[in-house]
Amino acid sequence: MRSTRVLTGITTSGTPHLGNYVGAIRPAIAASRASGVESFYFLADYHALIKIDEPARIQRSTLEIAATWIAAGLDPERVTFYRQSDIPEIPELTWFLTCVCGKGLLNRAHAYKASVDKNNAAGVDPDADVTAGLFMYPVLMAADILMFNAHRVPVGRDQIQHIEMARDMAASFNHRYGEHFVLPEAAIEESVATLPGLDGRKMSKSYDNTIPLFAPREQLKKLIAGIKTDSRAPGEPKDTEGSALFQIYQAFATPDETVALRQAYADGIAWADAKQVLFERIDHEIAPMRETYESLMRHPERLEDLLLAGAAKARAIATPFTAKLRHAVGLRDLRAQGTEKQAKAAKAALPSFKQYRESDGQFYFKLVDAQGKLLLQSAAYASPKDAGQAIRALQQDDAALAQFAPVGGISQQEVAQALHQLRDVA
Ligand code: TRP
Repeated sequence: MRSTRVLTGITTSGTPHLGNYVGAIRPAIAASRASGVESFYFLADYHALIKIDEPARIQRSTLEIAATWIAAGLDPERVTFYRQSDIPEIPELTWFLTCVCGKGLLNRAHAYKASVDKNNAAGVDPDADVTAGLFMYPVLMAADILMFNAHRVPVGRDQIQHIEMARDMAASFNHRYGEHFVLPEAAIEESVATLPGLDGRKMSKSYDNTIPLFAPREQLKKLIAGIKTDSRAPGEPKDTEGSALFQIYQAFATPDETVALRQAYADGIAWADAKQVLFERIDHEIAPMRETYESLMRHPERLEDLLLAGAAKARAIATPFTAKLRHAVGLRDLRAQGTEKQAKAAKAALPSFKQYRESDGQFYFKLVDAQGKLLLQSAAYASPKDAGQAIRALQQDDAALAQFAPVGGISQQEVAQALHQLRDVA
């Protein structure tokens, strides 16, 4: 099977906090280490422009978020880690999708509708202060996803609608121009906790209740001391239910450690002592990463290099794919008048599968190159359907090659190359 492509973007509009770490960064990095997945993580800086018009803040946030993901263990060799604005093909695809996206679909987007509702409630023009950027946000996001034909997109619940819209645009484009896009699915991580913030509500920049992930040790300690608790005195048993402190601890601790703190609550641990326990536990996990983070923040050139290398990797996919899409929609070299004859000639220059039946009544196929040279010979199949299935397996994945005996004088590599050629035009 071809590997699953997983892709997600992080808007560069803030400083990562503990809630982002527990809810998104840590699970994403763990998932990127699984086998059989190809991960794409990117800094959505074009998206940040929709919300922020302070250039220095955009730059700062981009630096902080890049440093955070690397410090938290993302391996840029293993995944494709890049900055959206380094991929000029993305705004180009945004336009292609804009032209197949119904305006009504965008009218129904939650983020846009919320702004309109607010304006209506305030009795001002419904579109007051609504930029076309906000309106078009779902199209840009669809381009991010469809450019890399991602199968799965890990996002928060608030983003599910955007994935559905991306699917809609992919289907509209495919319908008009042929099967170019995979229809993506949202992946919602059910088991991951949402972290409460200092005031007990969900930790979020919009509530101003966050603990920055890489706050220096002393500041971390101070912030944790400010977590809201009840007024129970030392020695009085405490409730774990509804305790933000306990929930944050749980997100970092092992099950055994959690059981121990639960017992300490029952035994009447003083809030100050519980906060000390929490502080040490978080610092234990964060301190080594914080060191890497601080070093990266002192060396932005390292991050810049790393992002540019990531962009090159991403563009190795995006550039040829965009060329194919341009052709599909009719943005073409004028000298190459699209004729049947040319299409036929192009096809004749490719290797091909030939299916046939022998006098033994069994079904076979072979792969031959453009000149008719034999590259691969199948064994017998009982039915044409079985033979077809084996061909499809080969078309999808080189691994299927292992089942075939080599043809004399033909290297495995030569066969694989022919298969890749066929895949590239598929
Ligand atoms: N809109 C997403 C958010 O605010 C960020 C984002 C941009 C994104 N492009 C994406 C997420 C593509 C997933 C896939 O969280």
